[in-house]
Amino acid sequence: MNSDWLTTASTLSKALPYLQRYDGATVVIKFGGHAMGSDEAMETFARDIVLMQQVGVNPVIVHGGGPMINKMLERLNIKSEFVDGKRVTDAATMEVVEMVLSGLVNKRIVQAINAQGGRAVGLSGKDANLITCDPADPKLGLVGIPRDIDPTLLNKLFEADMIPVIAPLGAGDNGETFNINGDTMAGSIAANLKADRLLLLTDVSGVKNAKGEVLTELTPEKIRDLTASGVIAGGMIPKTETALTAIEGGVRAVVILDGRAPNACLLELFTDHGAGSLIRIPT
Ligand SMILES: Nc1ncnc2c1ncn2[C@@H]1O[C@H](COP(=O)(O)OP(=O)(O)OP(=O)(O)O)[C@@H](O)[C@H]1O
Ligand SMILES: [Mg+2]
Repeated sequence: MNSDWLTTASTLSKALPYLQRYDGATVVIKFGGHAMGSDEAMETFARDIVLMQQVGVNPVIVHGGGPMINKMLERLNIKSEFVDGKRVTDAATMEVVEMVLSGLVNKRIVQAINAQGGRAVGLSGKDANLITCDPADPKLGLVGIPRDIDPTLLNKLFEADMIPVIAPLGAGDNGETFNINGDTMAGSIAANLKADRLLLLTDVSGVKNAKGEVLTELTPEKIRDLTASGVIAGGMIPKTETALTAIEGGVRAVVILDGRAPNACLLELFTDHGAGSLIRIPT
């Protein structure tokens, strides 16, 4: 018999304890704008999500889209102001952010999942009052932090075997639209749902130390040290902050991993290999 088939059968057989462990579990996956690569990578990601759902997991996707927003702002020649290296989201920028996230990026993921036989539904935090925001920092304009979460719609979608795909936007109390960091949004949703796992898919293989080595296990204390010494910087700051607040909020474990690696989610959930940096409260 072809040895590939034997390997496939053996892999499936070894996955049984993991499949049992995650039966009925809720797993929130942040799909970073930087993790979204080629159409092939999107297809593999989508197939992993549909497989997860098929074996009894309730997956929730929250996505980013930084590179896609930047490209569209450039195309439309919309110039932004920056404060401390962070873009100020004014009304004109916000229009583009919403169009790109809720339109282009969200629907690309929804379509990719549905093409693999899943039933994904594209939302933003505005739908059914999923997320209501407060302004994060008035200097940064329309950037919000989640305040209230109403998970009613998500629970209805789980019951119907549908997969929510959420763009990181939320409504303000005065009719504003706020842009939310995708990691922050994913963490708030994971904590509200008391998710079993939060996977943050990005474009590096995990959190690196000063020597550039990936740290496979991280404690809250280690994260605080690495942040204070500036080793954790830029886009990794909201990820590790999110990991800490999600764990404090009742999420069992958070993993930061390379979403461009083939079958990253399956490798993490259904094998004993694991991938990336695992963050949990030390036992
Ligand atoms: N200690 C560190 N270890 C690993 N990466 C780090 C570290 N400090 C900073 N980074 C940076 O964080 C980046 C990941 O965050 P980034 O916000 O760019 O991507 P993303 O969140 O996946 O995408 P998006 O923001 O579009 O959703 C890495 O590409 C890396 O350059
Ligand atoms: Mg980011």
